[in-house]
Amino acid sequence: MLRHEFETLEQNGITAVALPRIADPSVIPLWFGEGDAVTPDFIREAAKRALDDGLTFYNHPAGRADLREALKTYLDRLYGIDLAADRIVVPGSTMLGIFMAAGMSLGDGGHGIIVCPAWPNIDRSFRMTGGSFDFVRQRLEPDGWRLELDDVHAAVRPNTTTIFLNSPCNPTGWVMSSEEQVRLLDFCRERGIVIIADEVYHRNVFEGEVAPSFLTVAAPDDPVIVINGFSKAYAMTGWRLGWMVVPAGYEEQMNAYSECCNTGAPNFIQSAGIAALAGGDGFVREMREHYRAGRRSVMEILAPHPRIELHEPVGAFYAFPRIRGLRNSLGFAQGLLAEEDVGVAPGYTFGPGNEDHFRVCFAKSNERLETALHRIVRYLDRHDNDFG
Ligand SMILES: Cc1ncc(COP(=O)(O)O)c(C=O)c1O
Repeated sequence: MLRHEFETLEQNGITAVALPRIADPSVIPLWFGEGDAVTPDFIREAAKRALDDGLTFYNHPAGRADLREALKTYLDRLYGIDLAADRIVVPGSTMLGIFMAAGMSLGDGGHGIIVCPAWPNIDRSFRMTGGSFDFVRQRLEPDGWRLELDDVHAAVRPNTTTIFLNSPCNPTGWVMSSEEQVRLLDFCRERGIVIIADEVYHRNVFEGEVAPSFLTVAAPDDPVIVINGFSKAYAMTGWRLGWMVVPAGYEEQMNAYSECCNTGAPNFIQSAGIAALAGGDGFVREMREHYRAGRRSVMEILAPHPRIELHEPVGAFYAFPRIRGLRNSLGFAQGLLAEEDVGVAPGYTFGPGNEDHFRVCFAKSNERLETALHRIVRYLDRHDNDFG
């Protein structure tokens, strides 16, 4: 009765594993992409003040002018650019930005490419456009994950309109270099292919302050839509606040589009966003050291196991280990949950070729994380005979 794309939509593998025990306190949850630190005080206070000031009304559908100016100032400072504030749109969550970008660039008869391993909500968004798509997988080389641009070029068809990529990458931790961005952009510019660059983990890097961004290499009229948000940098996953930077000249269309999606992000939550941008750098640095400790624990406890192949992630806050001989990542995640009360995400849900992987989020308090990692090792040892 409803559209085929909707009728055949399946729950992603992360929630498929997690939902049955989502509220169970005995589980150590490494399955979702968030830490256990609550949003910093000064950000929460800004939202409370905004509520007390009565910011409960509709506002500009593309986001409040003061937040868009604050984003311009922030992005200019981070990247050394001079971005036009009218290219910035604050529609609601980062996820909504991805969904909107998919709808802006892909449609019935069109073809998209998703660089994977990729967070499963991306392919669901692509599916809902009615367009077709293929995955292009990063390669796991002896020195870590890498995107071979020739693989992307080979997947392009005459009707390809869109390429999605996420750097720093959930789940592999791969970070695309500026040189690679320039090369991909040259290729796409020539063919009029839109790049959707999901940069939501841009502050989650272990070297330097920020990951390379398409904003520093693209001209205002290039076919690039950059998606970003507050969730991962400022521990604001529950606030549903993100932004898009779209090519110049689409102000009217973006106002109209955002109006019929969420009519912009909630007004008082935008006040929290302004506070985060103005005062959040210290928190970002503090969290970086916390995540570095988590990464160290993963590399010390999990990586040396003979069944595990794992390279140190360069960005984001996930590890995506391969288990040598694993044939069923869902079975592994469910078995681990049942026997060891540890929640991980099964590899299969990150696109084809990942059935022998699983993902852990290491943005967690170190003691609980290490307990969970030791339990994973114990499970691997106990089940060694099951892995081919
Ligand atoms: C790659 C990627 N993009 C986008 C998002 C969505 O972010 P938000 O929760 O801010 O909508 C996530 C969240 O996990 C993510 O991992």
